[in-house]
Amino acid sequence: MADIKVPDSDQILAGVAAGRKFVLVTHSLTNSVEKQIDFLIATILKKYDREALQAALYSCVKEVVVNATKANAKRVFFEEQGLKFNDRDDYIEGMKRLKKLLSESWILEYGKKAKQRNMEVSITFTHNVDGLRVEVKNDADILPTDEERIRLKLAEGTTYDDLAAFYMKNADNTEGEGLGLVMNLLLLKAENINPALFRVGMVDGKSLARIEIPFSENFKSVRGINPDGFVRDDEIGFELDYRDES
Ligand SMILES: Nc1ncnc2c1ncn2[C@@H]1O[C@H](COP(=O)(O)OP(=O)(O)OP(=O)(O)O)[C@@H](O)[C@H]1O
Ligand SMILES: [Mg+2]
Repeated sequence: MADIKVPDSDQILAGVAAGRKFVLVTHSLTNSVEKQIDFLIATILKKYDREALQAALYSCVKEVVVNATKANAKRVFFEEQGLKFNDRDDYIEGMKRLKKLLSESWILEYGKKAKQRNMEVSITFTHNVDGLRVEVKNDADILPTDEERIRLKLAEGTTYDDLAAFYMKNADNTEGEGLGLVMNLLLLKAENINPALFRVGMVDGKSLARIEIPFSENFKSVRGINPDGFVRDDEIGFELDYRDES
């Protein structure tokens, strides 16, 4: 296979070597953004001798980025259909219509519309010798009904070790197969990462999915009382902006 150069790879190499935080901003998961995420994760894991986590972490990040772009697209769809997201009946009706249409091409089309409305997805990587934190944010709300569904599903997911068994019992089909988040949980569990370090919820009016990977015993989760050791959010990092490409 011909090697396509990863955009901004020199910047990524230099930034990771310097311990910088990275923020990727995009509207949809294009091939080039996928490559970028893969390369960034590989560069960070290599720096801390954790290459073995590449496949699991890349799958997890990709899943939550797809969820985020889908959520933005879903919001555009509801707007177009004149349906309110936070109205129970509208929501049920909207999801019914959406289910008939949902496909790769629908996601692309509505990804473009999300772009026209400046709805973004940001992917932030913060790392040091004690651990890595990946946060994916998007503009669309997680609805209380979805949040409850997510919470129950993740709680149930932690009791399984294998996705097939979970699927047989739980395929809820509300939107996609509803397997992505539990798949993430099981992938992380298989790498001996505490499932509590994978969170999905609302923070400051945005949807947020966070994956934390400890590298040492000194790792402090952002949920802990003292998340020291990490570059704080207001410190300058690299921002790679792919909004023009998607
Ligand atoms: N970033 C997000 N913003 C808003 N809602 C979200 C977000 N991420 C997940 N959700 C909600 O959580 C639900 C569960 O996500 P999950 O990834 O498990 O399933 P899915 O994406 O519907 O299907 P699959 O991943 O199997 O294709 C989604 O259907 C969606 O309603
Ligand atoms: Mg999903």
